[in-house]
Amino acid sequence: MEKVIIFDTTLRDGEQAAGTSLNLAEKLEIARQLDKLGVDVIEAGFPASSIGDFEAVRLVAREVKRPTICALSLASIEGVDRAWEAVKEAEHPRIHVFLSASDIHLAHQLKKSRDEALKMSRETVARARTYVDDVEFSPMDASRADPAYLCQILEAVIEAGATTVNIPDTVGYATPQEFGNLIQGILDNVPDIGKAVLSVHCHDDLGLAVANSLEAVRVGARQVECTVNGIGERAGNASMEEIVMALKTRRDFFELRTNIDTTQIYRTSRLVSELTGFPVQPNKAIVGANAFRHQSGIHQDGVLKKSITYEIMDPKWVGIPASSLVLSKVSGRHAFKERLSELGYTLSEEDLNRAFQGFKELADKKKDITDRDIESLVAEELRTVTEIYHLDHVEVSCGDHNIPTATVRLIGPDGQSLADAALGTGPVDAVYKAINRIVGIPNKLTEFTVKSITEGIDAIGEVLIRIESDGVTYTGRGAATDIIVSSAKAYMNALNRLLAAKKGGSSARGTGS
Ligand code: KIV
Ligand code: ZN
Repeated sequence: MEKVIIFDTTLRDGEQAAGTSLNLAEKLEIARQLDKLGVDVIEAGFPASSIGDFEAVRLVAREVKRPTICALSLASIEGVDRAWEAVKEAEHPRIHVFLSASDIHLAHQLKKSRDEALKMSRETVARARTYVDDVEFSPMDASRADPAYLCQILEAVIEAGATTVNIPDTVGYATPQEFGNLIQGILDNVPDIGKAVLSVHCHDDLGLAVANSLEAVRVGARQVECTVNGIGERAGNASMEEIVMALKTRRDFFELRTNIDTTQIYRTSRLVSELTGFPVQPNKAIVGANAFRHQSGIHQDGVLKKSITYEIMDPKWVGIPASSLVLSKVSGRHAFKERLSELGYTLSEEDLNRAFQGFKELADKKKDITDRDIESLVAEELRTVTEIYHLDHVEVSCGDHNIPTATVRLIGPDGQSLADAALGTGPVDAVYKAINRIVGIPNKLTEFTVKSITEGIDAIGEVLIRIESDGVTYTGRGAATDIIVSSAKAYMNALNRLLAAKKGGSSARGTGS
């Protein structure tokens, strides 16, 4: 069976989603998980766009050895040189060059003629080939370009040495039939198209990214560019898990395979959601909380009799823990460790001890500890590992006839205990003001959401916030059974990330594509 190459661009196009702010360690953690998942190519960033992206590509190239590591570059000689500088230590490096191909982009953005753009494309691909044998080229906005010109560019870049040619539906404009026809036209009209892998890269502005990608694959494309949970610029990219599971579940139709270990999908989805701060909607295909839940009596009856009646996939295929095991305060360290490993976590002894301590504290407040509680707990413990300021104590007084007042105590960078108090419009505002009095770093709160992890009055409340400082967004999360405490933890998490970025100077983001 022929294989479809899964090119994951979560760390590049996914990271371009508004409000994302992954730091270096988080990018590496995602890259490692993508490696476990079995993706063929990881697009790790756009090195010329920012120092942070450059460093991320370099780090992933050094550390993640099995997959191809790809660096994106605009079609400029300096950009290609910079991409190579970042990716050269990879075991399997790739440079991905892109340039606009539609008249709309050429006239209004690039202000270049078709001939000039074609020349730049050819020259920069040739430059990339002086560094590496694996070079990809993307004619941006291909779905709105003149197909004859598109074929001309593809012919030229293949001749210049491109080994993959990628057709982006940059603005998510195409319909499946049109996109399939475009791919067929390329296969029929580009001489030597067989010398390169034909790839597609679809955006989801009309909710058609997955449908367009699958139609392209049906017609003959053999690489799909996609992201975990479909995150990405604007409405996002084609969702990796939907593409992969469609190819697996409908193998009878597509007769194609991928390299993906599908049992890692759920874990990867959770990790990306956790680190980017983008929740997965409950009805999201494959990885949403309701994707395998049956509500109506008729459906439940059918599934109980034979799951195939209403389930086209076994939840185990995507690694959804089929656990009936619920931990509680009498569960020991061994059971906790076992459950963690079933959920896909391998923690160091030190992290395990911290997580177990957190588990015991939670079990004192909450009767049954579910898998979602454990995931939240581990994430909470890991978040505090690299803190500059640590929340030691928070206390509020509030009510309908009270002026909300908060007292907080933080442990500072040198281990000193720092306490302060403030009044606010509400308890969270008071807590944030008290923290600000100690940390003293100007920022603006741009988003605040609270949700409960599981059902029940004793559920963990998870707070997600975004703050902005000097035009850069920092995400923070916090989880606790008390939502004031979660709110304080989330704020500390965002502030610590801001402080770490300012210290390291590596978070400045340029203009992504
Ligand atoms: O959407 C797009 O066109 C891109 C290219 C850089 C491939 O992301
Ligand atoms: Zn894109």
